[in-house]
Amino acid sequence: MIQLFYYSKAARNIKSKDIEDIIEVARRENIKRNITGVLIYHNSIFVQVLEGEKDDVYQLLENIKRDERCTGVSVLMEQIVDEPAFKDWSMGYLNAPVMGIGVKSIAEVASDLKDDDKWISTFVEECLKLG
Ligand SMILES: Cc1cc2nc3c(=O)[nH]c(=O)nc-3n(C[C@H](O)[C@H](O)[C@H](O)COP(=O)(O)O)c2cc1C
Repeated sequence: MIQLFYYSKAARNIKSKDIEDIIEVARRENIKRNITGVLIYHNSIFVQVLEGEKDDVYQLLENIKRDERCTGVSVLMEQIVDEPAFKDWSMGYLNAPVMGIGVKSIAEVASDLKDDDKWISTFVEECLKLG
């Protein structure tokens, strides 16, 4: 199985109802596909960890790319894992401040990602601690 991290930007003004809708569908659909993970939303940026069989994860990613609520889906990291880190969460939801990784970090994802592998791995580690 794989674990994939991506980020995207909100394509429009996202209200808490939008997040509720996304999480509701995600929890329902991810159980069917054996996908687990976590969604983080803050300051118009989504970061999501998706875990599952590679084909399932990429099929879902295609859906998300077509979703009118977000734009500019960029994969941050993909790795093969034996066990899901979020095995109890068909899709968890977190605000960035809850994670203690700081609002600034999430904003940095959007503005300047290219060469910052170190930052990505720190972020990934922080996410995985939540699982
Ligand atoms: C940021 C974001 C994250 C999403 N995460 C999931 C998810 O984990 N699982 C899921 O089934 N749908 C998720 N969706 C919704 C999908 O984009 C899509 O609406 C859903 O898979 C249903 O697709 P369908 O109507 O083509 O079957 C997410 C949407 C957004 C905007």
